[in-house]
Amino acid sequence: MSVHKNVKRVTTHVLQEMKDNNEKISMLTGYDFSMAKIIDGAGIDVILVGDSASNVMAGHETTLPITLDQMIYHAASVVRAVERALVVVDMPFGSYQGNSKEALSTAIRIMKESGGHAVKMEGGQEILESIQRILTAGIPVMGHLGLTPQSIYKFGTYVVRAKQEEEANRLIEDAKALEAAGCFSIVLEKIPAELAARVAKEVNIPIIGIGAGGGVDGQVLVVHDMLGINNEFNPRFLRKYHNLFDEMTTAVKSYISDVRSGDFPNKEEQY
Ligand code: KIV
Repeated sequence: MSVHKNVKRVTTHVLQEMKDNNEKISMLTGYDFSMAKIIDGAGIDVILVGDSASNVMAGHETTLPITLDQMIYHAASVVRAVERALVVVDMPFGSYQGNSKEALSTAIRIMKESGGHAVKMEGGQEILESIQRILTAGIPVMGHLGLTPQSIYKFGTYVVRAKQEEEANRLIEDAKALEAAGCFSIVLEKIPAELAARVAKEVNIPIIGIGAGGGVDGQVLVVHDMLGINNEFNPRFLRKYHNLFDEMTTAVKSYISDVRSGDFPNKEEQY
């Protein structure tokens, strides 16, 4: 029997049941009320309030500048729209790497002030102490390994990670450490499909991929990318389900033309 069809509210336990039942998990990012309402209404399992809001919503080049207050604002807007999906909120750069007490206060602020259901953190064994402390407060944690955009200045580029054996082995160890610590799921970003499939097999918690092939337990994309709102980002892993950039441009041009010609508003569109 299908797990996802029968749940009114997706929880971390539902995601585990989906993995155990071989049902793929769907996840998209969301940053605002209106978009979250559409995504949740369509039946998505997880909405990630990603720190990609820094790029997509604020126009920054990296995810580093977004603040905790800004993440909470985005997350609270999403939570107000959602009836079914699990809402996972990214812990922003600089809010958890320093020490585990600060990490716990960040996670508590996110949960209290946004109403989100879980947090996501980038990194492996180097942030394990912070993850463990957050978990002791009963806050579910999603891990994030592979390409971790908060470390872009360490990597230097956004190319595929863990192609070499040493980095691949470290990633597998990190995934196992995150599972042992009690993370409920892990995002794997931009790594070879074969490696991602191996992690999904060797680790029992759900593995969600982005640019990590089809051998994992679910997929995540940035919603603006898959809807084609952003026409400047075209990586190989991205499937565009629409070309909203062109459609919206056409609609806005029609509006401008109607206003200029006096066609809008007409008699039926006024009081
Ligand atoms: O912030 C984000 O959008 C993410 C996804 C790419 C997984 O972390």
